[in-house]
Amino acid sequence: MNVSFEPPRGMRDFYPEDMVWRNRVFDAFRAAGEAAGFEQYDSCVVESYDLLARKAGEEVGEQIYHFEDKSGRHIALRPEMTPTLARMVAQRQKELVFPLKWTTIAQCFRYERMTKGRKREHYQWNLDIIGEESAMAEVEVIGAACDALRRMGLADGDYKVHVSSRRFLGELLEKSGIAKERHAQVFLALDKRGKMPDAEIAAMLKDGGLGEAEIEAAFGIMDTSDCSACPELAELFRLAGIAGFADRLVFDISVVRGLSYYTGTVFECFDTAGEFRAIFGGGRYDSLLTTIGGEPTGAVGLGFGDVVVTELLKARLGENAAKGRKGVAVGFMFAGQADAALKLATRLRKEGKPVDLALRAQKPKKFFSRADSSGALEAVFVGPDDVEKGVARIKNLETREERETCL
Ligand code: HAM
Repeated sequence: MNVSFEPPRGMRDFYPEDMVWRNRVFDAFRAAGEAAGFEQYDSCVVESYDLLARKAGEEVGEQIYHFEDKSGRHIALRPEMTPTLARMVAQRQKELVFPLKWTTIAQCFRYERMTKGRKREHYQWNLDIIGEESAMAEVEVIGAACDALRRMGLADGDYKVHVSSRRFLGELLEKSGIAKERHAQVFLALDKRGKMPDAEIAAMLKDGGLGEAEIEAAFGIMDTSDCSACPELAELFRLAGIAGFADRLVFDISVVRGLSYYTGTVFECFDTAGEFRAIFGGGRYDSLLTTIGGEPTGAVGLGFGDVVVTELLKARLGENAAKGRKGVAVGFMFAGQADAALKLATRLRKEGKPVDLALRAQKPKKFFSRADSSGALEAVFVGPDDVEKGVARIKNLETREERETCL
């Protein structure tokens, strides 16, 4: 029987050229997390189904890969990290010293409809601050995410972080006379604004039980462009000015976020040209710990996937941009020079240089062409004369300059 060479639908294989990109993205995640003083944590990709299903929004809840293990336990592949983080914090809430600043790169699984930027598996960098009510927490997580984008090579003008507040939106809805039990309907409609015609949104609201006047009020709120009456957002903008990224923040009432646990500030980052899906998203979730049985605790965090940002980086910087030249390629002309080449490679490695040693004799043309395409910075080709003289030439493949080295 022939097996398909494709991975299961929505899952990715990472060939060496893909790993170059993945490492560039992960290196930026780790460096930005460390630069902002976040500690790393981790857990298993398999989580209890009940914990995940209860905490996700409706949509993510339906996308969970779940199964029974051989003892009948109902378990799942995590679609996100936040419920696991809440569980880990609740478990040690008495011992931990707050505020916590924790980070991880977690592989997550969602049975999504496959579209551009959405896979059924992705890596998600998570940054969370737990135990802080002030907007300093928001500014630190968003600032670290902006720092990661800069480290990856994006320009400040390439993206914008759209921010809003669910609390503020709830207040606006209440003031305009829309009953609390219908707020969720308006949240949903806002999420669809710009993605479907207003007439369909109005129909959605009508189906959700809103009357004519309420629908009109809801559309009025959807056009709100001023957040100066919202203290948590005003403070966030002020602090972002000090931290130097206020130019990348925009108030956008349509940001509500699909997950159910957010209580206050919410945000989502998009490329300025509007070509791609969300780069990262997050918000404040002050009640999540209490809903799983922990003590009340202020919390803010974000999830930043690897899929969209890699697409964006390739589009802005070029497909090959992640590949920097490094290391030395060492080759030899005939079998008689193999020992000398191995000896040279061993010495260079001891000196701390990465060395790609040819495994068999080659023609010089073939050797140099492979060295060039594999991304080596330097190349040494050992021939019989070199062994006789005890000296070989190391060629810099970028500048074409040569220098001598002892064999
Ligand atoms: P989320 O908005 O569902 O939030 O996901 C965050 C990010 O993960 C998205 O902006 C996107 O970059 C990436 N992402 C999500 N689903 C997929 C997918 N199917 N394929 C590719 N990338 C994807 C959360 O998950 C929250 N738990 C974030 C958070 C952390 N909130 C507080 N702390």
